[in-house]
This record gives sequence, C-alpha cells and structure tokens, in this order.
Amino acid sequence: MDQTRLETILADLSLGVIRYFDRVGSTNDEAAQWAAQGAPDLALVVADEQTKGRGRAGRHWYTPRGTALAFSIVVYPTLEDSGSVSRMTALGALAVCDALKNRYHLPAKIKWPNDVLVDEKKVAGVLVEAQWTGERLGVLILGIGINVAPASVETALASEPVLRFPSTCVESVLGRPLDRQELLYTVLSGILRWRSRLVAPDFLRAWEANLAYRDEWVQVIPNSGTSELLQNDGKAPSPIQEGQVIGLSKDGSLKLRTRSGEIIALQYGEVRLRPAKKTKAEEESNVR
Ligand code: BTN
Repeated sequence: MDQTRLETILADLSLGVIRYFDRVGSTNDEAAQWAAQGAPDLALVVADEQTKGRGRAGRHWYTPRGTALAFSIVVYPTLEDSGSVSRMTALGALAVCDALKNRYHLPAKIKWPNDVLVDEKKVAGVLVEAQWTGERLGVLILGIGINVAPASVETALASEPVLRFPSTCVESVLGRPLDRQELLYTVLSGILRWRSRLVAPDFLRAWEANLAYRDEWVQVIPNSGTSELLQNDGKAPSPIQEGQVIGLSKDGSLKLRTRSGEIIALQYGEVRLRPAKKTKAEEESNVR
C-alpha cells in the first residue's frame, strides 16, 4: 500500500483528500488532528500499521504491519446527523457488512453496536469519536479496523491471552488471500452510498436486517475498559440484563425481550453483548 496507489484506486470515489501512513499511532488521532487543522469533509486517513490503535472503552486495537485495514474518515455532521454517533457507528458497521456479504459472499452480521462478525467471530470493529465545540457537535471521526490476514488475530491473541470475544480475519473465513485495497474500496463505496441516507427508513431497515443474534438470547455486559480483562477477583464481568434480540427502535437502540416478557431498549453506550449460551466459536477460543 502507498499514497499513490491508494489515490489511484480510490480516484472514482467522491472522497476528500487522502493521507496514507506506513505507521501511525492511531488513524483516529491523525484524523482528529487533521480535522482541527481544517481537513475537508470525508478526508481519509489510512495506515498500514498502528502502534496505538484503540477500540471502544479505551481497549487496545492491534494493527500489525501488512495484515489489516485501519482507516478513519473525517465527517462533518449535517444538521440531520447531529447527535448521531450511534448512526455513524452503524454506518461503518453496515458498510463493512455489505462489503463482506456482497463482494466476498461471507455471512457477515452486525453485533450491535459496533462489531462485525462472521461465523460468530469478530472480524471488524468501528470506533466513532466526536469533537464538540461547546454544545455543538463539530466533527465525527469514523474509525474502522478490519482483521484481514491471520497475523492480525495472532498478534492480538499473543498480547491478550484471554479474549473478550472470539476473533477471526477475512482471509481465514474466505479461505484465500485478498487485496486489502479492493476491500477498502468496497467498504468506502458503502459508506458513501449510505451516508446521505442515515436518517432514511431504509438505512434502519438494512441495519436491522443485518443484526446478529436476531431472536436469540444475549447477555448485556457493562463495558468497563481494560479492567474487563483483568477483574480483581479473576471472574468474568457479570451481565446486567439478559434478553432476546427483537430488533431496533427508530432511534437505533436495541430492543430486547427479557425473561419476564418486558421489552427494553438498550441505548448506544458502554455495553456490549454476548450470546447467553456459549457458542461453538466461544468454546474453541479462550474467551470470558
Ligand atoms: C472496537 O472494536 O472496539 C473498535 C475498533 C476500532 C479500531 C479502528 S482501527 C482504525 C481506527 N483507529 C483507531 O485507533 N481505532 C479505529
């Protein structure tokens, strides 16, 4: 991957300016700094390697050289988008999901709110960060990380022997190597296609149609950052709620039916889901 090749491959997409780095701390940080200096809408930062990549709740996100896709897009929200960190997250997840399904015929699903799964294992994550000017939402940084080659997952496993969730990579589920730039192109096309329809009913329908665990029972786990991996008593964090996934509310919150039949809506925030029963993928991996 290099700047010129990326610019050529992505030339027919209506993106802002592109900045490519062989190695960077975090593409989200680069994009945020660039936005502070006046980056245009849809400016794109791509890195071959991240040394300080991060996921939700401040967790580490591993992007070893040549094995993954790590990129961030500067998005200036329109009035309609305001306050829609959750929709922007869904936009990223849906674009990855669409690309894996339509271009590579993989059974990708969105694990609400920000993960993309194939065969019940995580292949990609989305991290949207907002910058505020007082009360006003100034800019959103839409960061996406995709595990492409097996080494991306192996590095994470070597650093974190106990995973929160089973992980895999696109090449493993595809059974062959793939061109990262082609995948990047396909995901970016999806982002551009859906971006103008974020508040349209078909966006919500597509998001809902791609939800993982529909009609299945899940546990809602509080996200407590890195301590989640290293509970003092060595135990897994306890679920705050258990429910059956029904779908999405109009505002994008996740609707669950509890054991008592009550319908609850989970707001986008610091919670995550896991299947109520251990899946085959969980049994094969060292997860809590
Ligand atoms: C998660 O699963 O918690 C979200 C992971 C998001 C990782 C991407 S990689 C590109 C961008 N830069 C970062 O530091 N994080 C996001």
